[in-house]
Amino acid sequence: MIDRLKRSLQEFKDKGNYRTIKYLKPLSDTKVLYRSREYLNLCSNSYLSLHTHPLLLKAAKDALDEYGSDPCSSRSVSGSIALYETLEQEIAKFKNYKRGLIFSNGYMANIGIISTLTGDDDLIFSDELNHSSLIDSIRLSRAKRVIYKHRNIKDLERKIKNTKTGGKRFIVTESIFSMDGDYAPLNDLFNLKKRYGIHIILDDAHGTGVFGRQGKGMEEVFNLSGKMDVHMGTFGKALGSYGAFVLADNVIINFLINRARTFMYTTALPASSLAASLAALRIIKKDSSLKQTLWKNIDYMRIHLEEAGFDLKESMGPIIPIVVGNDKKAVMMQKLLMKKGLFLQAIRPPTVQEDTSRLRLTVVRGFTKADMEHAIEAIIDAGRKMRLI
Ligand SMILES: Cc1ncc(COP(=O)(O)O)c(C=O)c1O
Repeated sequence: MIDRLKRSLQEFKDKGNYRTIKYLKPLSDTKVLYRSREYLNLCSNSYLSLHTHPLLLKAAKDALDEYGSDPCSSRSVSGSIALYETLEQEIAKFKNYKRGLIFSNGYMANIGIISTLTGDDDLIFSDELNHSSLIDSIRLSRAKRVIYKHRNIKDLERKIKNTKTGGKRFIVTESIFSMDGDYAPLNDLFNLKKRYGIHIILDDAHGTGVFGRQGKGMEEVFNLSGKMDVHMGTFGKALGSYGAFVLADNVIINFLINRARTFMYTTALPASSLAASLAALRIIKKDSSLKQTLWKNIDYMRIHLEEAGFDLKESMGPIIPIVVGNDKKAVMMQKLLMKKGLFLQAIRPPTVQEDTSRLRLTVVRGFTKADMEHAIEAIIDAGRKMRLI
């Protein structure tokens, strides 16, 4: 076995697709220290820069004192402290759903939802660029899967019409696609739901806290808050904490509690994470200025990069993909940017499709104008060297 793995690792290296872990030290909400040099972090998902907010830190520290470092048992056995209930109720109310259920993280939530709620005779229609957690969950499900072209409603409807089943049908999609930063046409998907009686499972990991007037996520943008069959979101991105939530009606949540294996057979979250998530949720409900500053930064970065000639595809919001092509080119561009003090990774297959390797920049609230000016200058310089602009 070892020889086979070594050969594969060598192939990854030859292709420019070999991954290593970069060990670093955070210096502030936006800066990291890596190999004795300070970098601007251009790949954080903490869009609202909440992970260093004093109220989150205080809530987490207080919870540590009160509950200890970890519950050391699964939620169903003895790990469901009352903080879970408060957070589940508040997040469900915020997003206009009946009920919430917290999972340890978004990956486990997605694995739990789809593999548990779909069965033998069912059909799952899945966007071709869905996140790996959705793909893995669909693989675990016994339902038949049909992949539709990215955000392509015509293709999806054609496939719905042409695929028969005696069971239930589901559409599975992200709201904001994690590697492309573009959005799912929720209004069209919702029309298909109504027309064909299909259930929608929506992953709003990158929408929560960022999109919508009140930060409720992409459903709010489309005036569809609370209207999906199953809504999933995470606390580990804009909310600056850790964990994930599933929102749905009572029957679905009760079924997940009884059968979702990634809910049942894993240690509950530390109370400090729950407390930080609750603090973050209360901040975004009360204070829209964080989101406003984030969007000013997003606009500033986007306008300058587009003016410089970068093709940012259909992206909107804080995720900015700069597609470079093959793996080696993406690594070259990443190195050019690292040299200029920007910390980010080249995103390559299997995270994205072949020949769409890219730099995935993220914009956060904590960036200063000077941070962004420096980043834009460095990206333009690297883009010219790579002949992207
Ligand atoms: C769209 C999407 N769904 C789910 C997840 C998984 O969430 P978590 O990091 O909480 O496991 C991610 C994070 O990478 C994501 O981008």
